[in-house]
Amino acid sequence: MVDENQTKTDVWPAARLSVAPMMDWTTRECRVLHRMLSREVLLYTEMVTAPALVRGGALHLLDHDPSEHPVALQLGGSDPVELAEAARLGAAAGYDEINLNCGCPSDRVQSGAFGAVLMQSPDLVADCVAAMAAKVGVEVTVKCRIGVDDQDPRAVLPDFLAKIRAAGVRRVTVHARKAWLQGLSPKENRDIPPLDYDLVHQMKAEFPDLHLSINGGIATLEAAEAHLARGLDGVMIGRAAYHQPADVLCAADTRIYGTGTRSDPVAVVRQMLPFIEAEMQKGARLHSTTRHMLGLFAGRPGARQWRRHLSEGASRKGAGPELVEEALELVLAQAA
Ligand SMILES: Cc1cc2nc3c(=O)[nH]c(=O)nc-3n(C[C@H](O)[C@H](O)[C@H](O)COP(=O)(O)O)c2cc1C
Repeated sequence: MVDENQTKTDVWPAARLSVAPMMDWTTRECRVLHRMLSREVLLYTEMVTAPALVRGGALHLLDHDPSEHPVALQLGGSDPVELAEAARLGAAAGYDEINLNCGCPSDRVQSGAFGAVLMQSPDLVADCVAAMAAKVGVEVTVKCRIGVDDQDPRAVLPDFLAKIRAAGVRRVTVHARKAWLQGLSPKENRDIPPLDYDLVHQMKAEFPDLHLSINGGIATLEAAEAHLARGLDGVMIGRAAYHQPADVLCAADTRIYGTGTRSDPVAVVRQMLPFIEAEMQKGARLHSTTRHMLGLFAGRPGARQWRRHLSEGASRKGAGPELVEEALELVLAQAA
């Protein structure tokens, strides 16, 4: 149900820090974990394609846990009518924001004309977001790159932002590097094209009314704070939030939002146990949740024992929450 009282800016305070959409990583189970680590951070789903929802009827892709809010649904697609319908389904399922992916360079995604290839078609993107916004009460946002292939980001990005702003978009996340559509794998496209943070900061100066978040290679809260102090509205963190979730998220509420208290990864493991039990009662495997917990003690005493005990045991037949409790005992023994 769309909440009639929700305004388009409800999610803005949360968007000071967000965990990036990541296919196969930011699953429902992962988002529940991240929410236990931070009450405030904005979470994103994996990309869900509009054709899968609208033509395929795969509504289970919209499943999420009530604890996840504020949570944004990321859509992939390039057909305004289909995206509008997918956005409607997402808002009806309860998502707080609908985000359009204009940054993902994988082949599969290019073949459907989704993702980063849309940086070449700003007018089409404008049509898409306008059609989506016309169907939903929640905010429609965009995640993009600074350009693709031989485009000049200094010309392309302001034009892209101006066009989507004219179509009603007020909040954008920019992955501060180009995507090279030919010759690089999706993974290489997250590391090889150079980062241009200054360009994103310059866009904030040129578009002061847009809420702009920066993404790409930001691995610590210190780095996030530095971007916020320089005037950006938000920071999105991907791989570091996944691999070292406690480092990025435990102090996020106090440091980025000035609320709450620091969370504790040991307490969060204990909080996850009832969720894991409930999942397993519904037929899920232990591994589908614990695979997202492997980095929870990264850089802390017992990290290796924790990771090894969970990764070796969680796929075994009959493995249950007690494996997590055993792994936690190993961590506590190291810390003692
Ligand atoms: C495993 C993985 C899957 C990703 N899937 C998506 C996706 O579905 N949609 C998207 O917009 N970006 C996707 N990305 C890109 C991230 O959202 C982010 O832009 C990128 O990793 C750069 O941020 P980081 O340096 O903080 O990781 C993915 C990244 C990774 C590592």
